[in-house]
Amino acid sequence: MIEIPESKIIQELISQARQIAAYAYTPYSHYPVGAAAYFTSGKIYPGCNVENASYGLTICAERNAIFQAIAQGERQLVSLAIYVPQEVFASPCGACRQVMREFAADCSVILINQQGLTRNLKLAQLLPDSFGPGDLSKISDQVGK
Ligand code: THU
Repeated sequence: MIEIPESKIIQELISQARQIAAYAYTPYSHYPVGAAAYFTSGKIYPGCNVENASYGLTICAERNAIFQAIAQGERQLVSLAIYVPQEVFASPCGACRQVMREFAADCSVILINQQGLTRNLKLAQLLPDSFGPGDLSKISDQVGK
């Protein structure tokens, strides 16, 4: 069972994801995204997307938030909130789903639109039959390492 944060935390995640979207660097797509990642320590880490003239170097808001947390010693992701200033919710890209999977077997994913509506998802829904850190140890067990 995944942990669902209490409503006070969810409100804080929504607020921080919304606020950080204002700092998104998006001169190419004009598509700002804000994310807020909640880890087991109880701390929240916000992140925005940061684009680059060399387009492929762009980092998504979700990965930016998660990497900020990892750099502070966090390891276990509980919940990730994602805000976009438009009516249509933004679902995390495949790369971000896989990075979430690295730090959570499952976690809650909260999508937020400009109107403040939310959609609650689970990572296991977004990334079924996932490949994760545990799968690497299975092969090394087989080869006797
Ligand atoms: N983007 C995110 O930050 N998160 C997502 O889940 C989808 C896409 C960013 C990357 C790029 O800066 C812009 O949105 C358009 O793709």
